[in-house]
Amino acid sequence: MKNFINLKDIPAADLRKILNDAKSRKNKRKKLNTLEADKDEPLRGKLLIQMYEKQSSRTRLSFHIAINQLGAGSITVKASELHLGKGDESIADTAKILSTYGDGFLLRTDSDKKIDDFSKNLTIPIINLLSPSSHPCQVLSDVFTVEEIKKKPISKLNICWIGDCNNVLNSLIAVSVKFKFNLNIGCPKNYSPPKHVMDWVKRNKRKINIFNNPLKAALNADVVFSDKVFSLNDRGNKNKKINDFKNYKVNSKLMKVTKSQSIFLHCLPRGNEVSDDVFLGKKSRVWQQALNRVHVQKSILLYSFGKLR
Ligand code: CP
Ligand code: NVA
Repeated sequence: MKNFINLKDIPAADLRKILNDAKSRKNKRKKLNTLEADKDEPLRGKLLIQMYEKQSSRTRLSFHIAINQLGAGSITVKASELHLGKGDESIADTAKILSTYGDGFLLRTDSDKKIDDFSKNLTIPIINLLSPSSHPCQVLSDVFTVEEIKKKPISKLNICWIGDCNNVLNSLIAVSVKFKFNLNIGCPKNYSPPKHVMDWVKRNKRKINIFNNPLKAALNADVVFSDKVFSLNDRGNKNKKINDFKNYKVNSKLMKVTKSQSIFLHCLPRGNEVSDDVFLGKKSRVWQQALNRVHVQKSILLYSFGKLR
């Protein structure tokens, strides 16, 4: 049993195995309907418990489909309806109960500590569905999408991130170290990645490039990523933050300095960090990106159950 909490804690070889498995499973099920299981039903009879303390459209639906395609079943519980949510049952007791009834626990939360506390008390794997510090399922799936479209390993591509240094970027930084690709970040001066993230990159003998000029960050990019400026777990003055990013919008002027075959990706939901003409334009692959989460998350689940081929 393996947890899937932070990409930085997972060996590159395991991440690559997940991507390879996702590719082969995706290819094999072209003729099957959405909820039909893969022929081998590798998780038949298992129960996955999903819990969301924050809103979610894509993660919730894509995991529901992924779990069904593996032959397993899922139940989604609302944090506010559990005893835990009301504060009168401990994480330790809740974790014991989840481990008694279920085979895996999938959690979106506003607390990294909560994931940590659960992981210490569960005897079943836990998967991080987004926390303040990371969004590992999203980003591993995004690597899959990039390689699927570009037909090249991501290590041969220039990847650019324009926007806030948030959970999604933290996971992208982690995977840039694991898979050794070039990562340029375009963000305002006071919004650089935190020191502990940069120190981790340094300790792993990698470098990421930070630009306060978005056009410089995007120059010759193969892929441009963005994400909304104000994240689910952000506190503080939303209008001020959005205003601080007003010059960091992904628009057609910015896409012009990227490579001619470049693509645009965004995990959604979106705000005004990207113009409609880019988001809905020829370079955008955001819907393919969203769909691929089903395929990669299946292989993440198999990794957690020690069932990767
Ligand atoms: N990209 C993503 O995780 O979307 P949701 O918040 O809708 O799950
Ligand atoms: N950075 C965003 C991602 C949403 C899927 C957030 O945390 O709200």
